[in-house]
Amino acid sequence: MQQPDFRTPALDNLAQRVIPKEHFAFTTETARDRFFNDTRMLDIKQLVHNTFRTNPKSMVGHMADNLDFTGSEDLLDLGCGNGFVLEHLRPHFADGSITGLDNAPAVLAAARQRLHGTATPCTWIEGSADDLSMLDDNAFDRVMANYMIHYVPDLDRCFTEVRRVMRPGGIFQLTTDRTDSMLEMYQVHFTALQDMNAPEDLFKATPKGRLSLENGATQLAPHFEHVRTVTWQDQLRFNDPAPFMRFYEVGHNHCCASSEPDERLDEDFLRELRVRVRTQVQEAIDTSGYFAVTKYTGSFLCR
Ligand SMILES: C[S@@+](CC[C@H](N)C(=O)[O-])C[C@H]1O[C@@H](n2cnc3c(N)ncnc32)[C@H](O)[C@@H]1O
Repeated sequence: MQQPDFRTPALDNLAQRVIPKEHFAFTTETARDRFFNDTRMLDIKQLVHNTFRTNPKSMVGHMADNLDFTGSEDLLDLGCGNGFVLEHLRPHFADGSITGLDNAPAVLAAARQRLHGTATPCTWIEGSADDLSMLDDNAFDRVMANYMIHYVPDLDRCFTEVRRVMRPGGIFQLTTDRTDSMLEMYQVHFTALQDMNAPEDLFKATPKGRLSLENGATQLAPHFEHVRTVTWQDQLRFNDPAPFMRFYEVGHNHCCASSEPDERLDEDFLRELRVRVRTQVQEAIDTSGYFAVTKYTGSFLCR
């Protein structure tokens, strides 16, 4: 059974009153068809993370440090999404090449469009990160899997494949969160659901606990000689509820509550949920001057 996602006992308790354990189970197909069937979710998340961060270095800045580019690397990005990370990393290896792979055609098309016309050659592949059979052995100097690994059905096969396609001396960067990252958002969400006596069987959550910053090194160790963990923190601070509410509603599908259609989750229900979440956010702003969302994130660097 999948372990619950939320690591502080108080939130775990709250979450499990609303989401039964067996519902920590979004499949890669659900993600493709409901989260990444257009780019809205990713666009909003990237905008908000970048606009409201308090860490002076961006996520891409941390990744550029991790990946230690010399300028001519061949890079494979598993679950490349809308190409945001690739676009911003590209100047660091402009004389190399980009291969972006994703199982969601809509976001892959957006990545292709985003990188169109750049001098670095790009190849785009629709497929799942645990089947890289279309790629040659020893073809890449860098491989990345950022904020996507929890969706991949066969992790062992994925890591075996990454090892095969990566050249000796290469770096595989796997970026993921600690399970209690962005706790404050889940706190206001679950509090609102509980206050509404929301029906328990309705809700699912992404299974972030499958491979998190806490348990990932153990899963990677059988496949790579060296696994180093690099962590960084950030805090998003909102002094206006509106951008947070876009982040919550569109960027996270109401913490996944609106990801699975159900007639009980009609617009009235979601509207009330938003009002209750917004009220808590406004209260925090009135009290502290801002609503904080704390991020515990990082990468495994595997060689
Ligand atoms: C949260 S997004 C991260 C996108 C990008 N890596 C970033 O950091 O901005 C997760 C991505 O993984 C993709 N994805 C989900 N399951 C996948 C799989 N089995 N194989 C490849 N990509 C997958 C989704 O379509 C989505 O684009």
